[in-house]
Amino acid sequence: MNQKRIKVVRRQATLDDVDAIFQLDQEVWTEFPGTREMFASRIETFPEGNFVSVVENKVVGYLCEQFINFDLDHPKPFTWLEITDNGMLKKSHNPKGNYVYGVSMMVSNKFQGFGIGTQLILCGWGLMISNNKWGTFIGSRIPDFQKSGMSIDKYISQVREDSLSIDSELRLYQKDGCKTIMVLPNYISDPESGNYGVLVYRYNPFHNWPFKKMIAYALRNIGPKFIRSSF
Ligand SMILES: CC(C)(COP(=O)(O)OP(=O)(O)OC[C@H]1O[C@@H](n2cnc3c(N)ncnc32)[C@H](O)[C@@H]1OP(=O)(O)O)[C@@H](O)C(=O)NCCC(=O)NCCS
Repeated sequence: MNQKRIKVVRRQATLDDVDAIFQLDQEVWTEFPGTREMFASRIETFPEGNFVSVVENKVVGYLCEQFINFDLDHPKPFTWLEITDNGMLKKSHNPKGNYVYGVSMMVSNKFQGFGIGTQLILCGWGLMISNNKWGTFIGSRIPDFQKSGMSIDKYISQVREDSLSIDSELRLYQKDGCKTIMVLPNYISDPESGNYGVLVYRYNPFHNWPFKKMIAYALRNIGPKFIRSSF
């Protein structure tokens, strides 16, 4: 990862950020653009689950999460629109849900590869730990799938010499301890991923620990080494 130094501020998103998040989304998600209404609805429904990364007063990163219940022993496939109430969260976010679900994450094309995505993932782990949830699910894209020419099952099973996935995005989540649960056909309109998503899961190693808020703070501020250790 490129460690070039840029000063990035991470904070909870507010309704004043909706326009900036919308512009960022237009830049990054050309195949599946969101709307201003979606971003406003998410922030109104669950403000603590929306984070932005800011460089020189410009929003360059965004993460949105929600709380859900999920049957991990009998997982059933779903689409992004179904699990997120069409991206609005009003009917899908359950404050008492046992799990965190990753709704959306994006980093401006110019700022990718600087660790901003990893910092946002850490904000998500912080949310999971401080709220004492059991774990976090993410519907990962697989942006290198379509050009691989492989079948989906073969592609998902392929790993590099370091035992991490050949897919750049699955790798990002694997490095943070996520395990693959299942393939999600027609998850989202995304030609690079063949419209597939891959459901990945990270259990909360600090569930029911004391000092949860302190651990979450340390995680967000000390950085990836903390969560990538042997938990
Ligand atoms: C996925 C994404 C948020 C990562 O953000 P980032 O700030 O570039 O991530 P980091 O710098 O913290 O981590 C870099 C890792 O992300 C992955 N990555 C980097 N650029 C990527 C890209 N364009 N697409 C997919 N994964 C990418 C790689 O695994 C990389 O690790 P490596 O450099 O060791 O190979 C960003 O690439 C993005 O916004 N992509 C488009 C939208 C998207 O796919 N969102 C996720 C929806 S599930």
